This record gives sequence, C-alpha cells and structure tokens, in this order.
Amino acid sequence: MSIEKAYNSWADQYDSNDNKTRDLDAKATIETLSKYRFTNVLELGCGTGKNTQWLLTKAERIIGLDFSLEMLNHAKRKITDRRVEFKLADLTKEWDIENQFADLVTSSLTLEHIDDLNHIFNQAYQKLSENGIFFISELHPFKQYTGSKAKYKTESGEEELEVYTHHLSDYLDNALRNGFKLLVVNEWFDDKTRNELPRLVTFVFNKRIKK
Ligand SMILES: C[S@@+](CC[C@H](N)C(=O)[O-])C[C@H]1O[C@@H](n2cnc3c(N)ncnc32)[C@H](O)[C@@H]1O
Repeated sequence: MSIEKAYNSWADQYDSNDNKTRDLDAKATIETLSKYRFTNVLELGCGTGKNTQWLLTKAERIIGLDFSLEMLNHAKRKITDRRVEFKLADLTKEWDIENQFADLVTSSLTLEHIDDLNHIFNQAYQKLSENGIFFISELHPFKQYTGSKAKYKTESGEEELEVYTHHLSDYLDNALRNGFKLLVVNEWFDDKTRNELPRLVTFVFNKRIKK
C-alpha cells in the first residue's frame, strides 16, 4: 500500500491508538521548541494536527502541509483557528509556499517516509527567513536498525508503512550542504534510566546566510 493510502486508512485511529513514538514526539517537540520564539510556522507532515495545536499557543500563523487527505480532514475538524491553514501537498515536490515565509519549519515523524533528504533541506532553506529554525523529530535510526517502523492495526492484522532509514550522518551532511548550522541534537528515551535504545532523535538547525 502506498504511504499516502496507508495514512488515509490510519487517520481514524491515529490520535487514539497506543503509540509511544507519537506521544514521545509531542513531549520532545514542546520541550525543545518552548525555548524559541516564532511567528510564522511551516509544519511538514502535520497529520491530524497533534503538534499544530501546541504550536498555535506561540505562533501567529501556521501552514501545515500533508499529502493525506484523511489526516488533514481530522486536523481541520480539530483546529478551526483562522491563523492555521492546512494544505494538501506532497513534500517530495516543490513546496508551493512563499519564499522566506517561515521563521520556524518543523517536521515530526515524517522524514522516515521520504527518501531524498537533500530536497527537504533545500526547500526548508528557501522557505525560512534569515536566522530561521528547522526542527526535526524522527524515529531514531538505532531503532530503525532493529526493524522498528511506523505501523498500525487493521482488521486483517498489522499494516507496516514504507520507510527509509536515514543515518545520523545523513541528516547532518544534508543540513550542512544546504546552508544549515546544527544548534542542538537530542536523543529521547522511553525510560528515565536511558539504558534502552533511544526512540527519537531531534535536531534544531539554524539557517546560515550564504555569503
Ligand atoms: C507519523 S505521521 C506524523 C504526523 C504529525 N507530524 C505528528 O507528529 O503526529 C506522518 C505524516 O507525514 C505525512 N507524509 C508522509 N510522506 C509525505 C509526503 N511525501 N508529503 C506530504 N506528507 C507526507 C503522512 O501523510 C502523515 O500525516
């Protein structure tokens, strides 16, 4: 099943089924981004708007992009605030957003479905204003090495989604090549003892001005 179709069929359960990765991402997003000021946000793979709701507590304008109509329908039902616009868009294509629109681009749990990170960093750079921030939260590649991937339950069993493994060096190489500087990297664990593999990795990058 294509990724887009899988999310269309997962959408009804996405907010309510047990999902440690989704819940830890919400915590990581809030803890990380609370420290920054932002006004105009571009949210990549906004899904059902789980993080949009929190981003709205700080932002003046948010554009959420996603290629799953059903995920977006849930987001639109939950969030009717006029400051938010949800747009159907495939992130692997050119993003139809005004250049330098955002002072924050965020992407949570979406890049594991996108093969070409270079395209994502290239587009994010164009859409960010000077000194803008690019926040990424993803399933940690260490988890991916053990076979962990996005999945949900259906009547006929578990449906696993198509995923790509991005190594830590892939994020860093693509970021640097596209004019970003790494500000913060963090690893997020299920357990306070931090003895298990980390579930998530988060990065905060800063748009450097090319001279
Ligand atoms: C695991 S969900 C994460 C949703 C939300 N960011 C969150 O943290 O709850 C991944 C989302 O990425 C979207 N997505 C995956 N590949 C995409 C692509 N190429 N273009 C647009 N959206 C995409 C899916 O439709 C889905 O809504």
